[in-house]
Amino acid sequence: MTGSTSTQTGALLKAFLRHPTKVGAVCPSSPALCRVITSEAKLESAKVIVELGPGTGVFTAEILKKKQAATDFLAFELDTRLYGQLCSRFGAQYFRNQSAEAIGEALRENHLKRADVIISGLPWAVFPGALQDSILTAVYDNLAEEGTFCTFAYLQSALLPKAQRFRRRLNELFDDVQASPIVWRNFPPAFVYRCRKTN
Ligand SMILES: C[S@@+](CC[C@H](N)C(=O)[O-])C[C@H]1O[C@@H](n2cnc3c(N)ncnc32)[C@H](O)[C@@H]1O
Repeated sequence: MTGSTSTQTGALLKAFLRHPTKVGAVCPSSPALCRVITSEAKLESAKVIVELGPGTGVFTAEILKKKQAATDFLAFELDTRLYGQLCSRFGAQYFRNQSAEAIGEALRENHLKRADVIISGLPWAVFPGALQDSILTAVYDNLAEEGTFCTFAYLQSALLPKAQRFRRRLNELFDDVQASPIVWRNFPPAFVYRCRKTN
């Protein structure tokens, strides 16, 4: 484990101990999962990208590397300490210490159009149904036509009732929902949902 990887693991573990039902993971996503989620999202052609629950910033680093220079990027992290670390590492202009439901308000405040891509690291399988619904509604309403929403799920929790409920809600909302092959090089193994909003 490199120095920065162990710092990120320590930061996420501490956040998990503070708020287990909001953080939902003890270990940052692996480089393999970052590659899959960011390539499913087609970041290169997006004009506005939103990230939900960046945590330690492993997806954020890949998004900032792959996005075009002129592409706008906004991320929502609820945990105040992780939010502070993200601002120090990447620049405060990208981050909001707000719940993901505030996507629309933040896009409007920044005079941005609806997002072409929304990437989520949120732990949907530990969220109550009402929270799943309010965030998913904000995602759908603030995604451009032809936009893409990508999120991941852990293989071990995919059969839990809240994970199944989340999957059903994705199918109800989006016209096209695809699951990636399992990313075994992640702890725990995970897969990515890629959801498209079409006309
Ligand atoms: C599984 S962790 C993110 C993992 C991240 N991909 C990583 O590898 O570091 C989920 C993150 O979502 C954040 N979170 C939980 N509920 C949220 C909400 N309603 N809005 C924004 N962020 C939220 C948590 O604080 C946590 O940092």
